[in-house]
Amino acid sequence: MDYLQINGGNKLSGEVKISGAKNAALPLLASTILAKDSITIKNVPNVRDINTLLKLFSNLGSEFVFNNDEVNIDSSCISSTMANYDIVKTMRASILTLGPLLSAFGHCEVSLPGGCAIGQRPIDLHLKALELMGADIDIKQGYVIARAPKGLKGATIVFDKITVTGSENIIMAAALAKGTTRIVNVAKEPEVVQLCEVLNNAGVNIEGIGSDEIVIEGTCRQKLDMKDFSVISDRIEAGTYLCAGAITNSKITLKNIIPEHLEAIMTKLEEMGFSFETKDNSTTLLPAKHIRPSEIITTEYPGFPTDMQAQFMALMTQAEGVSIVEERLFENRFMHVSELQRMGASIMLRGNSATIQGKIKLYGADVMATDLRASSALVLAGLVAEGITKVHRIYHLDRGYEKLEEKLKKLGVDIKRLSE
Ligand code: EPZ
Repeated sequence: MDYLQINGGNKLSGEVKISGAKNAALPLLASTILAKDSITIKNVPNVRDINTLLKLFSNLGSEFVFNNDEVNIDSSCISSTMANYDIVKTMRASILTLGPLLSAFGHCEVSLPGGCAIGQRPIDLHLKALELMGADIDIKQGYVIARAPKGLKGATIVFDKITVTGSENIIMAAALAKGTTRIVNVAKEPEVVQLCEVLNNAGVNIEGIGSDEIVIEGTCRQKLDMKDFSVISDRIEAGTYLCAGAITNSKITLKNIIPEHLEAIMTKLEEMGFSFETKDNSTTLLPAKHIRPSEIITTEYPGFPTDMQAQFMALMTQAEGVSIVEERLFENRFMHVSELQRMGASIMLRGNSATIQGKIKLYGADVMATDLRASSALVLAGLVAEGITKVHRIYHLDRGYEKLEEKLKKLGVDIKRLSE
């Protein structure tokens, strides 16, 4: 198995180009099930989760070519509606095929994704919403067996909790449903907004895009005339590199970003003493005279993103004072804490809240990645730790960070990918 070896202590410099957003590309690929012809999607990150979903699509019968950062895909030739366990178990976002398959074909069998390191992550809200749209849902031997032989019908859906992939599933289901679907308490993440915009451009009338209530006029199973498009930039990858610059208190420039998607992250870094020079789709992080402690409460967009919580916790070990992190979305998203403690961090956990003592010297160690964002926090800690840090099980990292060691090396990090 591969691991990353980092020799900490270098200052970073130069610039890094941010890739397309994994969490936008996944639902957008799923939406091609609704298309009547092939479509080209640009700025797709070549990461494990994308390749896993494409493997699922080829099992369904889709045809595609993935070259550089472009995917040309034709899902109009899908011949199976079965998303089987051996793929879904490795990537829970495969559940995003449920809504479009059901809406386009009137039936599908999608494996339950199961939990993951950060929490139980149920899909009850997805299923309840599809039943309101007229679907019969059974759970048999770990599979969701969904049927809507006469097609789905529009309904009013009020989500008890804001769910990103739940919103995306229902938006795609509603696109081909008969009649009007109103979704209240819908997720407003930029990835959800781009899905709505792409469907809108394909002829699905969607009102209220970007607000917490949207209204969708379904096409009554008329497949969509989808136009080629480019995936938005990855705000979490961008935030992770901003934390790489911040934890080493360096000046670095990020290219190919969407600054308004980074507002909560950049504001928090400004609170901690950093500043920015932002122009069009790039920003330069300027070092802090003193890294100040801060408080983070994770909430849905546009609040502080849960996917940046682990990275900021690593940064907070270098702040001069006590910082607090409260994780409100997932019940077990502190798996990085024990690994950071092994590097010398002083972090106290109480329920869903962590107290981080700074400024603490970190020491290189062998550490274990547990989930995508926790592993990026360990890499960040390794950048500033004295000596060698080895981050094991980096298949977690490969799920969502394209060319990570290449991009870090270009910024001046002494990093190697080695095999155990
Ligand atoms: C998406 O996951 C992202 N994944 C996650 O990113 C991200 O952390 C999360 O949204 C929150 O922003 C993708 O977009 C592929 P949720 P998702 O449904 O949709 C509860 C990463 O690092 N809930 O918004 O699965 C759930 O347990 C990944 O790239 C229910 O109770 O998250 C959680 O507490 C990690 N019932 C909360 O809602 C449901 O039916 C938010 O989950 C659905 C969700």
